[in-house]
Amino acid sequence: MTQTIGFIGSGMIGGSLARLAVAAGLNVVMSNSRGPETLADLVAELGDHARAATPEEAAKAGDVVVATVPLGVYDRIPANALAGKIVIDTMNYYPHRDGRIAELDSREITSSELLQRHLANSRVVKALHNMDWIRLYTRARPAGAPDRSALPIAGDDPAAKAEIIRLMDVLGYDAVDIGTLADSWRCEPRTPVYVQPYQGPSPAARMGEPEWQRWFQDAPGEPVSADQVKELVAQAVRGPVGGYFG
Ligand SMILES: NC(=O)c1ccc[n+]([C@@H]2O[C@H](COP(=O)([O-])OP(=O)(O)OC[C@H]3O[C@@H](n4cnc5c(N)ncnc54)[C@H](OP(=O)(O)O)[C@@H]3O)[C@@H](O)[C@H]2O)c1
Repeated sequence: MTQTIGFIGSGMIGGSLARLAVAAGLNVVMSNSRGPETLADLVAELGDHARAATPEEAAKAGDVVVATVPLGVYDRIPANALAGKIVIDTMNYYPHRDGRIAELDSREITSSELLQRHLANSRVVKALHNMDWIRLYTRARPAGAPDRSALPIAGDDPAAKAEIIRLMDVLGYDAVDIGTLADSWRCEPRTPVYVQPYQGPSPAARMGEPEWQRWFQDAPGEPVSADQVKELVAQAVRGPVGGYFG
């Protein structure tokens, strides 16, 4: 059972997941590109169960490691230090941020298969990637809560997926296994299960930036059940890949 989670990336998603993890009594080892000293405030906020480290140290320290950096730098994630580890992939392809990646654009592979190829000696599980970072934190609920949400997960190794399903349960989410990493296109950006259902009704189309920011900060979001996840994933159509920020 996971006791310590290593984080490669400690931004919005890394921070939200670390907050959920320490609230559940787990240890977290945070890392970023600029060095452990730049994570002092986050670690102080997270408390005694948290420390900062280099990416290599975080990779080695985690029973499970979360890879949560912009996809464009996926090849800087320390593969050797992650050998033998289960790696949660929260990353999504946003071409204007990450640069164009031909194999993704041509739909030859999914972004998680790209990461799995880089982390050839790790077991990659796509998970915790299809909610925005605010709702990911605020909509976590204990097991059995009537308004608990489910999230899709995908991976090639059944035992690794089982471990991540147990971890998601502790963090506040049910999981729906949607298949392999090759199947994970069904929950990538632009698919029906991606972000929007968890946010609830979209804001007015003509909302200005300040209003939109307020809405984004405060929207309570909505629960999405396992049955809804299955339906949304089944509706996915493989079209152009890559998300965009509106
Ligand atoms: N934001 C969301 O709502 C959301 C939702 C679902 C999925 N995602 C996906 O999750 C991933 C992370 O998103 P985010 O919003 O958390 O990004 P973010 O806030 O920009 O944080 C990125 C983190 O990655 C670190 N990083 C960058 N290059 C690195 C490297 N070479 N080695 C180690 N750490 C590195 C950054 O450290 P420095 O600051 O020191 O550079 C930062 O801590 C992305 O792929 C994104 O598409 C985001």
